[in-house]
Amino acid sequence: MKPSYTVEIVCVSILIGYTLNYFIGKRENENLASAWASKFCVKDSMFEKNFSLLGVGEEEDSPLLLKEATNVFKFYASGRRYCHGLLATMELKSRHDLISRLFNSVVPCKDEISFEVYMNDEAMDHIVFAMARNKAVKTMHKKLRDLQRLGEILPLPDRRKWVSEELAVISESKEVAGDLITDVVLDQVFGDKSFEKFGKYFMSMHFSDQNLGKHKKMLSFKFALPDTKHMDDMVRLVALIPYYIDLVGRYKLSTQARNKTEGARQKAAQEAYKELHNVRQSFTKRLYGR
Ligand SMILES: *[C@@H]1O[C@H](CO)[C@@H](O)[C@H](O)[C@H]1NC(C)=O
Ligand SMILES: *[C@@H]1O[C@H](CO)[C@@H](O)[C@H](O)[C@H]1NC(C)=O
Repeated sequence: MKPSYTVEIVCVSILIGYTLNYFIGKRENENLASAWASKFCVKDSMFEKNFSLLGVGEEEDSPLLLKEATNVFKFYASGRRYCHGLLATMELKSRHDLISRLFNSVVPCKDEISFEVYMNDEAMDHIVFAMARNKAVKTMHKKLRDLQRLGEILPLPDRRKWVSEELAVISESKEVAGDLITDVVLDQVFGDKSFEKFGKYFMSMHFSDQNLGKHKKMLSFKFALPDTKHMDDMVRLVALIPYYIDLVGRYKLSTQARNKTEGARQKAAQEAYKELHNVRQSFTKRLYGR
């Protein structure tokens, strides 16, 4: 009887497919990351004009993008008033992994880019504010501690021009939300008409002076990435970043608004203290059995 090599052939084909896909997928991700960088971080681009230092390296020709994983790229910029740095993180689809790729053809996911702007301590007043698509806003409200403690989802205002119906706003103060949603951003991206055209890749933004961790005062933005040929489609979104750095950097709450936020913050701090106290007490009880 002639031996049959079916199993071996199938195995070897899978292995070859997997390996080929690894190199193709890796390449695709690198191309996407560098398409973004060559739109926004090269000479005369938005970041080059708005920040004096780009990239992490000290040397002139050090690479702009830091590759952290096959599908994760980072970009750092600094040298702008009101903030001490900006970190962009691209999290791309796991194209290099055949299994993920097959899985994503059934359950689609997005290529994402997020920006964290670390604000100077004196350049950010009491601001706890977020905006996201309707579907995501409740989760955001529950998940992020500062929003959960201090923010509330704002109802639509009666008369004022406001953001597109696809978006929802969480804020500690109505006044602050009104001041941060300017006519400029409504015209550029967030208004009804412009959001349809330019908001396609917007996911969320979150500004807070109450972050946990090393960077207490921070602006975060999250966008989806277009494909390599359509980077122009996110120009208006990326332009929000320097715009908001300046707006927030200059912004001061009115006396009444600050009075309100101070009151709310004290109350939140007291509640947090009580919680901690309760936890400690029950812990002591368990420990000593009394
Ligand atoms: C910063 O970026 C914005 C948006 O692209 C641009 O309009 C502006 O001219 C830049 N700022 C400077 C100082 O070049
Ligand atoms: C804040 O407002 C309350 C009541 O409206 C007032 O009693 C208090 O003095 C104000 N506090 C400050 C710091 O202005």
